[in-house]
Amino acid sequence: MASVIIAGVGSYAPEKVLTNHDLSKMVDTSDEWIYTRSGIRERRIAADDEACSDLAVKAAQSALADAKINASEIDLLIVATASPDTPLPSTACYVQHKLGVPAHATCFDIAAACSGFLYALEIGYGQLLTNRYKRALIIGAEKLSSVTDWKDRTTCVLFGDAAGAVVLTKVPQPNIGILGSDLGADGEFADNLYIPAGGSKCPASQKSVEDRGHFIRMNGREVFKSAVRVMETVAREMMEQHNLTPDQISLVIPHQANIRIIEALAANLKVPMDRVYVNLDRYGNTSSASIPLALDEARRAGRVKPGDLMLLVAFGAGLTYGATLIRW
Ligand code: ACO
Repeated sequence: MASVIIAGVGSYAPEKVLTNHDLSKMVDTSDEWIYTRSGIRERRIAADDEACSDLAVKAAQSALADAKINASEIDLLIVATASPDTPLPSTACYVQHKLGVPAHATCFDIAAACSGFLYALEIGYGQLLTNRYKRALIIGAEKLSSVTDWKDRTTCVLFGDAAGAVVLTKVPQPNIGILGSDLGADGEFADNLYIPAGGSKCPASQKSVEDRGHFIRMNGREVFKSAVRVMETVAREMMEQHNLTPDQISLVIPHQANIRIIEALAANLKVPMDRVYVNLDRYGNTSSASIPLALDEARRAGRVKPGDLMLLVAFGAGLTYGATLIRW
């Protein structure tokens, strides 16, 4: 049976660095509080004239160059994002136009928050296996700074802007590339992490702006507890489905939300931290961009070798979650 492989990876993070020290001048916080509670030291912030699609395009160009594939050869383009350029149309259409992906390509966004990249990867994988498409561009891109309440110290210290992308192609060899995914969602916890206004439930109004309803609201403690539980469960299920034990996984790339969540996950799975990739100290939580950004860094740093088994694992607003197993 043929396989779907990641033929190229790329990422982009905006130039501007916002440190914990900078934040301590904006809200009542400190580097010590942020670092000990989250593991974050700094994050990147997009320029005013940089939209989500601009970050996505730069990451995509890097992934296409890595795969040695031209944008004109892409027939499926999926952007996972929680901070689209506009509510309508999808950011994927802006990306298509800026990249030069042809008009016959299928282009759409998916919204699964921080699990978005794994959701998009699963869709791309499935579509390539059906032979309906040949080359897919899967992007996770976020300008979270545009939906962050810079007056709310409980959330603004956590998020950052970035994008990551992969190119998927099909190869005749079996048992390589994406080996499988396990995704899920539990809408019971939807209100623990959401943006209250700007949708059909609470359309934009003067009141919604005065209430700061267009920014992320989060019950951090509840999200924390759910995150550790669902990521461990889905990671275990993924390994069991493939008859694998944690010592056979070369590298775990978890969603980069909080070092304490990642350390708890690693301890529960009994995976040593030197086999867990962490870069949230430099980028914060970049939602759907976090896993492809980490994957790109890990690979360029020589942490991923041919034949390695990698487990990508995420959770996000929804509460969505997922795990994807890859043989590089
Ligand atoms: N600086 C200083 N003090 C702060 C700050 C801050 N930035 N933020 C909160 N505090 C205070 C609180 O007011 C509270 O004070 P109190 O005890 O007087 O009431 C105290 O610090 C402790 O607050 P907690 O919320 O209990 O702190 P906690 O240890 O839970 O850490 C955190 C908070 C970092 C948000 C943690 O709960 C967390 O990481 N949760 C998960 C968040 C997450 O992963 N979100 C991303 C989801 S992915 C997606 O879809 C976007």
